Amino acid sequence: MIVLTLETTCDETAAAVITDQLQVLASVVASQDALHERFRGVVPEIAARAHVQRLLPVVDEALRRAQVSLDELAAVAVANTPGLAGSLLVGLVAAKTLSVALRKPLVAVNHLHAHVYACRLASGVDIFPCVGFIVSGGHTTLYRCESPSRFEWLGGTIDDAAGEAFDKVASMLGLPYPGGPAITRAAAGGNAAAFAFPRPFLREESHLNFSFSGLKTAVRYAIAGRGPCDFASLQLAPGQVADVAASFQQAVVDCLVGRALLALRRTGLSRLCVGGGVAANRLFRQQLAAATAAVNVELHIAPPALCTDNAVMGAIAVERLRAGAVESLELDVLPGLVRPI
Ligand code: KG4
Ligand code: ZN
Repeated sequence: MIVLTLETTCDETAAAVITDQLQVLASVVASQDALHERFRGVVPEIAARAHVQRLLPVVDEALRRAQVSLDELAAVAVANTPGLAGSLLVGLVAAKTLSVALRKPLVAVNHLHAHVYACRLASGVDIFPCVGFIVSGGHTTLYRCESPSRFEWLGGTIDDAAGEAFDKVASMLGLPYPGGPAITRAAAGGNAAAFAFPRPFLREESHLNFSFSGLKTAVRYAIAGRGPCDFASLQLAPGQVADVAASFQQAVVDCLVGRALLALRRTGLSRLCVGGGVAANRLFRQQLAAATAAVNVELHIAPPALCTDNAVMGAIAVERLRAGAVESLELDVLPGLVRPI
């Protein structure tokens, strides 16, 4: 059984061809980073228009690389939640059209569940039950994951996502987009203890939420003071950029690692599966590995190529298809996260 998966939730246009044995026959990702770079963040309308231009060529390329024809497909899957409304719609319309034209079932994928499922693909072993942790540009979310179809929301950011904070701090420091890799590079020679940036909720045990907007503001005050500031003309010494980047990165990593450990303690689970773009961060990977090893937790972090948005993780659709979770043409996009899901 061969499934075509589509991913257009944000700014990557992606398609993959996957067997029911989770063998990846092809995976194509067309990044839009170059289009959004000068805005230092994703511009929704530009993202949606770029998906329109790129999705069919990306699907063609995936099928060509997999050497699979459209009529060999058993189903068409698409991420329909959460994400940018316009971006989601492009993928959904394409998937519905293929499903109708080919008379093949339509399967819905939750993008965040798929990020966790990337660990299943990468590890080749069953990952359930586990704590699922998505750290991306749009989400910082913890789930109790009982099975591929049972995800219970445990907590998430009350304002910005961790990746959004990376992107905006990079912008303030005059670093390129996307901010995560740029901050990591800039932090290389910096002192992570140079600035005592806040670690919101780090000692808060009554819930599993995150907050990063105050941290962003603290960085702004540290580099530009409290008055109005034209960041484009801000002159920062290279050493100062390195120290701010290193101190900021450490503050985010402390929050992420601390809250993940709390989720493990509260659920009593001993397996943690992490995905999303920020999970590509080297410091985060190292410190999370050390912290989970110290409490005998089995850690799975998707490899960097499966952390950022891709269609391979849409292989969770195979599980849904097996469970008979097929959608009608009434299927809609759900840009916001509806809880509980
Ligand atoms: O999962 P993703 O590709 O898209 C969303 O669904 O958001 O994540 C993109 C986010 C961006 O904010 C980017 O700055 C961040 O992931 N990111 C990183 C790293 N690589 C990408 N953040 C920190 N360190 C990295 N190495
Ligand atoms: Zn994502």
